[in-house]
Amino acid sequence: MTETKPAAMWGGRFDEPPADLFKRFNDSLPIDWQMVQHDIAASIAWAQEIQAVGVLTEDECQRITAGLREVAEHAASLPCAPIESGLEDVHTWVEHELVQRLGDLGKKLHTGRSRNDLVSTDFRLWTRECIQLSLAELADLRRSLIDIAAKHSADPMPAYTHLQPAQPVTIGHWALAYEAMLARDSARLADALDRVNECPLGCGALAGTAYDIDRHRLARNLGFARPSSNSLDAASDRDFALETLAVFAACAIHLSRLAEDMIIYNSAEFALVKLSDKVTTGSSLMPQKKNPDALELIRGKCGRISSAHNQLLILLKAQPLAYNKDNQEDKAALFDAANELSMCLRVATLVIDTTTFDLDRCRQRAAAGYANATELADYLVAKGVPFREAHEVAGKAVRAGLAEAKPLEDLAIDSLRAIHPSIDEDVYEVLTIEATLNKRSAFGGTSPDRVHEAVAIAQKRLEAEVREVESHKGLTRQ
Ligand code: ARG
Repeated sequence: MTETKPAAMWGGRFDEPPADLFKRFNDSLPIDWQMVQHDIAASIAWAQEIQAVGVLTEDECQRITAGLREVAEHAASLPCAPIESGLEDVHTWVEHELVQRLGDLGKKLHTGRSRNDLVSTDFRLWTRECIQLSLAELADLRRSLIDIAAKHSADPMPAYTHLQPAQPVTIGHWALAYEAMLARDSARLADALDRVNECPLGCGALAGTAYDIDRHRLARNLGFARPSSNSLDAASDRDFALETLAVFAACAIHLSRLAEDMIIYNSAEFALVKLSDKVTTGSSLMPQKKNPDALELIRGKCGRISSAHNQLLILLKAQPLAYNKDNQEDKAALFDAANELSMCLRVATLVIDTTTFDLDRCRQRAAAGYANATELADYLVAKGVPFREAHEVAGKAVRAGLAEAKPLEDLAIDSLRAIHPSIDEDVYEVLTIEATLNKRSAFGGTSPDRVHEAVAIAQKRLEAEVREVESHKGLTRQ
């Protein structure tokens, strides 16, 4: 293997090399190194196609393929991006390594293609893999939430509006609320995957390749559903990354809500849940402290992940057709957001798996705060009192309770009757938490029976989705 001094792949037209400062500014190898295996896969598929149109002989194609496989192995053995090579980007690096191994033959590989269609192909291959990994991570978190729901399908906890105690719900209902959000994120990702899964290779710089390439076969060989249909669009289309980031942003928002709920519930004032030592830290000054750092970081990362979406939106704004160097910035945004979201999903799963609910305290707080006032109103409605009047009466009962410092169910029947004559002894049964929960048995409600059923539905839906994700097993996060 002879070492040749790397020159820019476009150097022929230039008298002078780029200034060092500009070169540092322009080079993208430290970032796009993440796509080195994708670049090589795309190159192997491309070599086959240019052989099919007679640019390479069968023997040349085989040697290029073997050379690229060697480069792939070499790349996998490197601990980090080989920036000392001085090469501009990952495409240049792969080609340079090939030429090092094969001499002039390696220089034939770039026939009929451009870095514009190549980078877009690599980035789509990377994004496809990333979505599949995210789907698997989402599935793990959803499974943990479903497990909580199954375990606590009948255990009450308080639920809030305006962070004021509103009505009791089952813990299972709370857990499945987050599962429902994450199920939508999974569905959005699966939907985005279809549009990610188009192959731009063979679009050339923008006008299409001048060789009679079978782009349908090329797309199939790279596992894409189809080739992209308009070369001018495909050369600079980054909608697939934009959509993926939009889903990541929504998912991060959902995780931040989950984190916030749990931070509040874990606070000494609420004390509904206990976070494990595995996901908390202490204070360097105050020995008694146990801080919910894992959850706070999840809440905080949401800013970073959602700005990546904004970053790409603004990056794409008003770019004239077709490729512009602005687009080199696209990868940093998606790579960073994907990495952060992956950590958030995995840490959230760990938090959920290791958190315990204080069931007595949850029940006690679910019963407090006059959370059964709606029950009293409904009780009166059942006795023929119009809802508006019943609402007023229940409000007065709450005031009576506050005056006596008692919950509604501890008010004597005489005090209740004084507020409305239709109230009878049977009201006490209605005011229990169990009655409150059991009554909410319409589809989507919090009754233990419904939650039990919802667990089964969620499990079934998740397992069907997981079978799809499993078919991509073998992928791992760094
Ligand atoms: N490093 C470039 C990027 O990430 C590759 C494409 C270069 N194309 C070009 N016309 N200069 O976008």
